[in-house]
Amino acid sequence: MATKSLICLEEYEEEARSILDRNAWGYYSSGATTEYTLRDNVQAYNRYSIFPRVLVDVSLIDMSVRLLGDTIDMPIGISPTAMQCLAHPDGEKATARAAARMGTCLTLSSWSTTNIEEVAKHNGSHSFRWFQLYVYKDNNLTIDLVRRAEREGFKALVVTVDTPELGLRYGDKRNKFSLPRHLKLANFSERDSSSLASSGGSALQEYVKKLIDPSLVWDGIDWLRSITRLPIVLKGVLRADDAREAMKHDIQGILVSNHGARQLDTVPATVD
Ligand code: GLV
Repeated sequence: MATKSLICLEEYEEEARSILDRNAWGYYSSGATTEYTLRDNVQAYNRYSIFPRVLVDVSLIDMSVRLLGDTIDMPIGISPTAMQCLAHPDGEKATARAAARMGTCLTLSSWSTTNIEEVAKHNGSHSFRWFQLYVYKDNNLTIDLVRRAEREGFKALVVTVDTPELGLRYGDKRNKFSLPRHLKLANFSERDSSSLASSGGSALQEYVKKLIDPSLVWDGIDWLRSITRLPIVLKGVLRADDAREAMKHDIQGILVSNHGARQLDTVPATVD
């Protein structure tokens, strides 16, 4: 099949809408409830203007930035997004190769359809990768993921803290979202990923209810701190007081995020 030449994000989005099935498109594209924040995440950029300086020598441009002690080539990284093999058989492997080629940071979702070890192989031994993590009710599940991330050269844990329950996404509810049988959450045993193939409502919502710890508070982050020497980045922080609190808990970074507007509707746009 000839590859279409797509030149901007909007065209990629349109192309994805036309080739993905309802289940996958619904999962990737939905925000929480009325999707006010989903729209605002995009519209917010229109509220900011750029005031460029003129007569600046731009014959050599270095966009590299320092990030937790390392250098990456550009100030745009790849955020964790789950289940990429819903879109293409290469899924997370292709993303890992692309991140390496661009010299930027890949954050792998723990809900990937390619396992940690395989992704690390495709990202390469000199690349910069972080691992996104939820804190599970079963400590052993969390510990296992942390150890595997450490072993495979991930340089930080990005702990999602805005998901005590999964956001209500109408698209997934309507489609009764589930993972097709040929795919699984590759970092988990058959038992721990099997609920995603079942479905009465949104299978992912059931998965989160069953496995993720909704009672997680700062003590849980202290526990995580005590079991690993990797830097910890909290993902989903939207308030200055939470950011200050994070500093008291030996947290190395925060990722200001509203989870792609997929968790709580009417929170501020991320860029705001
Ligand atoms: C996972 O993080 C999701 O938003 O579905």
